[in-house]
Amino acid sequence: MADIRDIADKLVSTGELTRDEIVILLENRTPEIRQDLAKKASSVARKYYGNKVYVRGLIEFTNYCKNDCYYCGIRCGNKNAERYRLTPEEISECASYGYGLGFRTIVLQGGEDAFYTDDMMGRIIKTIKAEHPDVAVTLSIGEKSYESYKAFFDAGADRYLLRHETADFGHYAKLHPANLSPANRQNCLYNLKKIGFQTGAGFMVGSPYQTYENIADDLLFLKKLDPEMIGIGPFIPHKDTVFADFKAGELELTLYLLSIIRLMLPTVLLPATTALGTIAPNGRELGILAGANVIMPNLSPLGVRKKYALYDNKICTGEEAAECMECLKRRVGSIGYEIVTDRGDNIKYLTGLTKEGR
Ligand code: 5AD
Ligand code: FES
Repeated sequence: MADIRDIADKLVSTGELTRDEIVILLENRTPEIRQDLAKKASSVARKYYGNKVYVRGLIEFTNYCKNDCYYCGIRCGNKNAERYRLTPEEISECASYGYGLGFRTIVLQGGEDAFYTDDMMGRIIKTIKAEHPDVAVTLSIGEKSYESYKAFFDAGADRYLLRHETADFGHYAKLHPANLSPANRQNCLYNLKKIGFQTGAGFMVGSPYQTYENIADDLLFLKKLDPEMIGIGPFIPHKDTVFADFKAGELELTLYLLSIIRLMLPTVLLPATTALGTIAPNGRELGILAGANVIMPNLSPLGVRKKYALYDNKICTGEEAAECMECLKRRVGSIGYEIVTDRGDNIKYLTGLTKEGR
């Protein structure tokens, strides 16, 4: 069996690992290997992006959702969720407020909510782009047809986040009801790329029934898809879901995976997620030190923040966006990094670097 040290070295020098090698790297990790890979990963991030941390203003504009994912607090089956929708005017006001705070990427995230037709989304996107031409608009509104995605792109949307959730179809079936298809979800990701979106995929760490083999398949799927952005964060139970009694994903494994992902896809834009900040008070700082380079603070109006609860105890639901921005600048500064006012595009996307970014 290959030595874990050799596998770590191979990861650092080539960014390529086999499924078996990834499993060994996960199963036999030691504090030394974790620290070593975190150091290598953060220096790769610095090579491409310097000490910059990009911020994305997240507007959670609807918590209505037609889906019933077993892990998610806004699943349609959760009758305790207090539902809300922001009007197009509220959404564009929120975006302008974010612009004033320095955000140059606005993320519109919501449940899969048919109330917002393609036309409505198109108008919202066009309004934001007309008012702030230097802003990148990112959508995170789930699975749609090729035509809908194309319409959003033509309206001016730049990026799209759609986590694949798990690359293993058997595992996918344990996390979702039968009407949701992993093949369709992956097809959506390929469509987004084909249309020209900077595309983000990803998965939860420590989701119920997840194995190291599943994680290896997730990493290989990401390597094949070659997205511009990758979102990973720990699974955190929500009391009104099927998985209320499962334990949360581990901080240490999430950080280790951030480092491995940075080394496998050197130029990827990789957030230290809110979920990571929720399981540990300094989780987002540790994420950056492990190779992440993006933070996505909440821009949603204070009145609705607590209602967009995908999981329990979510942080920053009592803070105004301006307060979060100050807090983040301080936190990021304390570890030697700097929050920047910049669209923060993937460097490969801007310069046409090769797939591996080497
Ligand atoms: N814990 C952590 N992450 C979650 N997500 C949904 N529910 C949870 C949870 N309970 C993640 C999913 C989804 C993204 C928007 O949030 O991966 O794609
Ligand atoms: Fe929201 Fe610190 S980032 S309070």
